[in-house]
Amino acid sequence: MVRVSVVCCLKLLLLLALGGHAGADAPAYVDAPGGALWINVLHETLKHGLAPKSWTDYLHLTVGGTLSNAGVSGQAFRQGPQVSNVNQLEIVTGRGDVVTCSPDENSDLFYGALGGLGQFGIITRARIALQPAPKMVRWIRVLYSDFASFTEDQEALISADETFDYIEGFVIINRTGILNNWRTSFKPQDPVQASHFQSDGKVLYCLEMTKNFDPEEADIMEQEVGVLLSRLRYIQSTLFHTHVTYLEFLDRVHSSELKLRAQGLWEVPHPWLNLLIPRSTIHRFATEVFGNILKDSNNGPILLYPVNRSKWDNRTSVVIPEEEIFYLVGFLSSAPSASGHGSVDHAVSLNDKILDFCDKAGVGMKQYLAPYTTQQQWKAHFGARWETFERRKHMYDPLAILAPGQRIFAKASLPMSS
Ligand SMILES: Cc1cc2nc3c(=O)[nH]c(=O)nc-3n(C[C@H](O)[C@H](O)[C@H](O)COP(=O)(O)OP(=O)(O)OC[C@H]3O[C@@H](n4cnc5c(N)ncnc54)[C@H](O)[C@@H]3O)c2cc1C
Ligand SMILES: *[C@@H]1O[C@H](CO)[C@@H](O)[C@H](O)[C@H]1NC(C)=O
Ligand SMILES: *[C@@H]1O[C@H](CO)[C@@H](O)[C@H](O)[C@H]1NC(C)=O
Ligand SMILES: *[C@@H]1O[C@H](CO)[C@@H](O)[C@H](O)[C@H]1NC(C)=O
Repeated sequence: MVRVSVVCCLKLLLLLALGGHAGADAPAYVDAPGGALWINVLHETLKHGLAPKSWTDYLHLTVGGTLSNAGVSGQAFRQGPQVSNVNQLEIVTGRGDVVTCSPDENSDLFYGALGGLGQFGIITRARIALQPAPKMVRWIRVLYSDFASFTEDQEALISADETFDYIEGFVIINRTGILNNWRTSFKPQDPVQASHFQSDGKVLYCLEMTKNFDPEEADIMEQEVGVLLSRLRYIQSTLFHTHVTYLEFLDRVHSSELKLRAQGLWEVPHPWLNLLIPRSTIHRFATEVFGNILKDSNNGPILLYPVNRSKWDNRTSVVIPEEEIFYLVGFLSSAPSASGHGSVDHAVSLNDKILDFCDKAGVGMKQYLAPYTTQQQWKAHFGARWETFERRKHMYDPLAILAPGQRIFAKASLPMSS
């Protein structure tokens, strides 16, 4: 076992213990402090040619923070969310006990804390599964004007044995004739045709995927990508591709962050709405939301991509729809202005319309990063899992001192433990 010290931006000394190197008998892992940023975990593991398997789109988030939610990005269709890639946790419970837990040891707390919204304890250390780090990434975007072809291709790709390493997608709505540069943070080697592509006011769907490769085997990668692309039904003139290092790809949102910060557009309100929508209702959802409710996508990206439920361990606290395939749909709005189309009020009223539609149409949606404010709403969110969630609260944080800001349990409503 190798011990490596990391000096992070706050000049705190973090200890990452790397175990079971690739090639050895045991699978590789890293022990990361709960407060470490994923970007620093990545920097450290890359020194050993290793990297975690599952990510979020943005890496300047803490290990404990994303594991308390789920941790979802374009790798989740294959690797599962981040909560499916943890072998062990160290947790300080609401009782003040320091507990090491895993699927074999104190498993109830282990699964409870994953997606547990900080309700049962503070994650102080996480043992994260690693794999050999890819060197380079072929990064591809293609456009569709037909939602059915777009989602059929996405679903075929996430179900195939031979496929891409990352699969996401986003929606581009241009009914007002003004459009953000949807290729922000992407420096493609555009074919001339593609750079002149115009939507003429139609809703477009962008499929985004990557293939990892070693520069020495670029030819093989190109062939594999060629075969995969030949099976897809995107608009042929809209193939955008580029290649970047694995680090550049994973840290891509940070490049946008720096640009937005320079314009004073990062530290603005973000009334985000993240929905998990079952496959069986995604078309009805898309018709109403992209066809009627939303007039443009200028206030931020709208992510849309499918994942397979079998990669999500149902013993965790994460709440997902009851269907084999479900979509993550993220409305990542920002609200830079005090009034009008860029305001918080405008974004929130659109969010409310979407939620209202989901409710009335029986979409079977679950919210991710849900901002509920009453226990009644949380009970409805957890459904049949509420009993387990509540039992774990009484067990590990009986005074309800942890993460009261989630507004799931009120301090006063719980009996004092003896
Ligand atoms: C710019 C941005 C991009 C994002 N992109 C994605 C994405 O692609 N995929 C995705 O899945 N999520 C994404 N998220 C959401 C992210 O997973 C959550 O916001 C998560 O809580 C972030 O962790 P944090 O370190 O910022 O936590 P904080 O905001 O510091 O904490 C949020 C809550 O998490 C819990 N918590 C935090 N740390 C711990 C701990 N050590 N132990 C126990 N509980 C803890 C607590 O309940 C706390 O109230 C994004 C968030 C942002 C701001
Ligand atoms: C989902 O994953 C399971 C388990 O790997 C697999 O059997 C099933 O075919 C997958 N479903 C789809 C639609 O790909
Ligand atoms: C958006 O739609 C308008 C027509 O409504 C069109 O002129 C314009 O080119 C479109 N923008 C893009 C980037 O496709
Ligand atoms: C989890 O899934 C397994 C197998 O699919 C099932 O037997 C079990 O009842 C499920 N558990 C919960 C808590 O939903």
